[in-house]
Amino acid sequence: SSDIRDELTDILVTETRIQDKLRELAARIDEDYEGKDVLLVGVLKGAVMVMADLARSLRNHVEMDWMAVSSYGAGTKSSGVVQIRKDLDSDLTGRHVLIVEDIIDSGLTLSWLLENFASRGAASIEVCALLRKPDAAKVEIDCKYVGFDIPNEFVVGYGLDFAERYRNLRDVAVLAPHVYS
Ligand code: PRP
Ligand code: MN
Ligand code: MG
Repeated sequence: SSDIRDELTDILVTETRIQDKLRELAARIDEDYEGKDVLLVGVLKGAVMVMADLARSLRNHVEMDWMAVSSYGAGTKSSGVVQIRKDLDSDLTGRHVLIVEDIIDSGLTLSWLLENFASRGAASIEVCALLRKPDAAKVEIDCKYVGFDIPNEFVVGYGLDFAERYRNLRDVAVLAPHVYS
């Protein structure tokens, strides 16, 4: 069968729980940024789904921009050395920036991004991540809006890929062992 679901074991976070959580986070964001000029920055490609659903749950005006970064290194995991593949279109000067991510794994990508953004003159910089793996952290990220803390397993779906596939799942799931072998 070519059904993606045959390649999954556990559904870790269902579509319903994701959407409920994003509505909850959006309500907090609306309140925290009341009267402010917010720029949501999505980190391509994983953050596409989170951005789309979070942004549509917000009531206040926001702008959206995108940053594409890629890690060097042979492994599948972030090396922490990051190359900008597409920079922001926006000038961050005076902006209230909210970085939108699908997952904080080692934290290296966001650590690099936060440092990169720090010199661009933003009024504030915060992070919203749907998922976080506390047991995988190599560097601590101060993330104001976290959806779910999850175990240190390889998860896919809702933007998260394995070799560029599985991003289109509606849920976040654990890949079945036979897919790796
Ligand atoms: C994934 C994920 C995060 C990052 C988290 O992106 O979307 O951006 O890794 O890992 P870290 O905390 O260990 O740095 P990836 O580099 O796979 O690119 P993608 O978003 O295009 O899949
Ligand atoms: Mn990513
Ligand atoms: Mg990836």
